[in-house]
Amino acid sequence: MRKKIVAGNWKMNKTFEEAEELITEIADGLDEMDLNGHGVILCPPALYIEMATDVAEESLFEVGAQNVYPADSGAFTGEISPLMLKKLNVGYCIVGHSERRKYFQEDALFLKQKVDALLRNGVIPIFCCGETLPEREAGNHFRIVEDQLIASLFHLDAADFSKIIIAYEPVWAIGTGVNATKEQAQEMHAFIRERISGKYGVAIAQDLTILYGGSCNAKNAAELFSQPDVDGGLIGGASLKTEEFLQIVASL
Ligand code: PGA
Repeated sequence: MRKKIVAGNWKMNKTFEEAEELITEIADGLDEMDLNGHGVILCPPALYIEMATDVAEESLFEVGAQNVYPADSGAFTGEISPLMLKKLNVGYCIVGHSERRKYFQEDALFLKQKVDALLRNGVIPIFCCGETLPEREAGNHFRIVEDQLIASLFHLDAADFSKIIIAYEPVWAIGTGVNATKEQAQEMHAFIRERISGKYGVAIAQDLTILYGGSCNAKNAAELFSQPDVDGGLIGGASLKTEEFLQIVASL
């Protein structure tokens, strides 16, 4: 269901004590706000998920994971399964983040398996797509994003597809301080929605939540979120500071 959402991707940051402090401050801040039915998702490092879900029980945010292995259990040293996430009340999991594609060589087939494993266990994938700077400069950004969607998502049936969240994250904007302009974000979000409409129909495309990610902060969030096809943000660096993150949530 289409919903305005701000999701915080903490990446590999914060000690346990710092994480507990940040999450408690955010929970307190959200208590003071009128969220108007909008969603807030926090994706801390996996070690802190149980602490986060405990706090979330009494708060207005939900918890997401940053990663998952596409099997329910087994001999996969170091990995975390979608079943484990589900049993800890984790509702979401980021899939296809450019850092995982780049540093961990995760390819489209592996991401597709993650999407399937998550949906099988009732965890919603937040599927990231986006082009690099050379790809944009060569004019290939629409094709790259479309290919990413086709390769890892378009095998889904309509019922499963309608559960997912998409995050458009141009790689050149992630952690760089250079965000996509509101026009660039809107243009790509509209393109994504149009392609999904072609595959799954207008109703499913209109009902899909598409987040923007990449140097989104308290200064640019309102402008980005005001675009008709931008339904909120996936926030990295700016999700690590309570006040800034709460201001981004207030920009929905
Ligand atoms: P950033 O990261 O907000 O620090 O650019 C976004 C992301 O990687 O999800």
